[in-house]
Formats: sequence, structure tokens, C-alpha cells
Amino acid sequence: MTTQTLVQMKARGEKIAMLTAYDYSTARVMDAAGMDAILVGDSAANTMAGWDSTLPITLDQMIYHAASVVRGVSRALVVVDLPFGTYQGDWRDAFASAVRVMKESGAAALKLEGGEEIIEAVRHIVSAGIPVMGHLGLTPQSIHKFGGYGLRASSDQEAAKLLHDARLLQDAGCFAVVLEKIPAYLGVQVSQELTIPTIGIGAGNGCDGQVLVVQDMLGVSQDFAPKFLRRYADLHSVMTEAFRHYLRDVRSGDFPSSKEEY
Ligand code: KIV
Repeated sequence: MTTQTLVQMKARGEKIAMLTAYDYSTARVMDAAGMDAILVGDSAANTMAGWDSTLPITLDQMIYHAASVVRGVSRALVVVDLPFGTYQGDWRDAFASAVRVMKESGAAALKLEGGEEIIEAVRHIVSAGIPVMGHLGLTPQSIHKFGGYGLRASSDQEAAKLLHDARLLQDAGCFAVVLEKIPAYLGVQVSQELTIPTIGIGAGNGCDGQVLVVQDMLGVSQDFAPKFLRRYADLHSVMTEAFRHYLRDVRSGDFPSSKEEY
């Protein structure tokens, strides 16, 4: 899978499936299952490290997660988030961050949050041959500016700004754009307007593809239950039962049995 494959999928009207992954083992299973794209999201700050926002994760930590995922993938397109503070200032810093991730992780593309305000960085990164996925709507790295994780672009003015930013990102050379937590009608409008694919999360069925955070869709996390989330498994229960079973077996002396010793 390449960035061009995703663009061709949109042209053919085929939906694109993406999930996040942060480690080798999960990425391996996901890739073998046939996932189109795997996002090494900075949501690793929440799911892997327990922070309450994505802000604390560092470039080194993202590279560690990304390189682990890349080692588990033979087919899917691996996209990596540039973390907060590594691209929003001078485009030269953004460029240096982008080059580090590409060189040190082996990933195929990057994702950056924002529109007009980061467009210079996007242009320079793309001009070096590094594919960039945009991210508009709810942009978790700006959580302190917006003050919450509610619906974005619900006013006409914000919707117009989002559409403007989406066009700018496409013109700057982005190969796809994530649309997070926006009204479904706007997801349709942006998807129809752009020739590059839109990947929605809480942006409705009109997007060209969908992405979910793997821990959320597998039901590992129980406390996060937004309307857009569909749970495909209840791993929390499966894991809890397995841990309790193991505890019982160790305490009772049932494990290990004679067949499980040398
Ligand atoms: O970091 C992340 O997991 C993301 C997805 C929610 C799109 O950016």
C-alpha cells in the first residue's frame, strides 16, 4: 500500500480502513488482517502512557513506537503523527522533525494537525518527497485552545474555515486528510470537494475512509464511549478473565502442570 494506492481507492469509490497501532505485535496482526493503513498516532500518549492529552509525547517516543510498528508490517501504509511542538513553529524545525521520523522509523508518511497555520511546513516537507496526511476538525494537540473534546465546525464560519484549510492542504500536496468529530454533512462536503481521500473519525459515513483508535475499537478501554465509537470486541472482559484465571491457577498450584515443566 502506498499513498498513491489510497488516492486511487478514492477514485474507484473504494472505502479505506485505517486503525492506530503503537507496537510490533498489534501491527503484525492488523497488517495480516489486511488493513489499508496503520496510524502511529500520538494518541500513544493516552493509550500507551496514560497521559490525559497527547501533548507530552516526544519525537523520540513517537520514533520508538513507529519503528516498532514498521517492523511488524509488510503491506499496510504506515503513517506517523508528528507530535506537539515539533512542527508548529519555524518550518525548518518541522522539516528536521519530519526527516528524523522518516530516517529513524522507516515509515512511509507523516500526519500533521492544522490547516493554514502550518501550511508552510507542509509545503517544505512535501517538497522533500515526504508524504503528508492533514488532520482537521478536532485536533487534540490544540486541546487547551479549544478547552474540550466537543464537536468542531458546527458553526457556518468554522465550517467555511475547515473547507478552506482542506483545500489548502490538498493544494500544498497532502495525499489525504483526517477529519475528526465534525458534522456528517461537512464530512460529505469536504469529501466531494477534494480529490484526495478524507479519513473520518466521528465525521460520518460520507468520508472516503475511517480510522479508530485500536484500544477503543477492541474495547480495552471502557471509560471512553463517544457516539462515533463502535466496539468490535470486549477485550477488557477477555483480559480481566484471563488475568483472574491465571491468578487462581498460580495460587492453587494448578499452574504449571507436569506437562508445562522440563
Ligand atoms: O493520534 C491519533 O490516534 C489520531 C487519530 C484519532 C486520528 O490522530
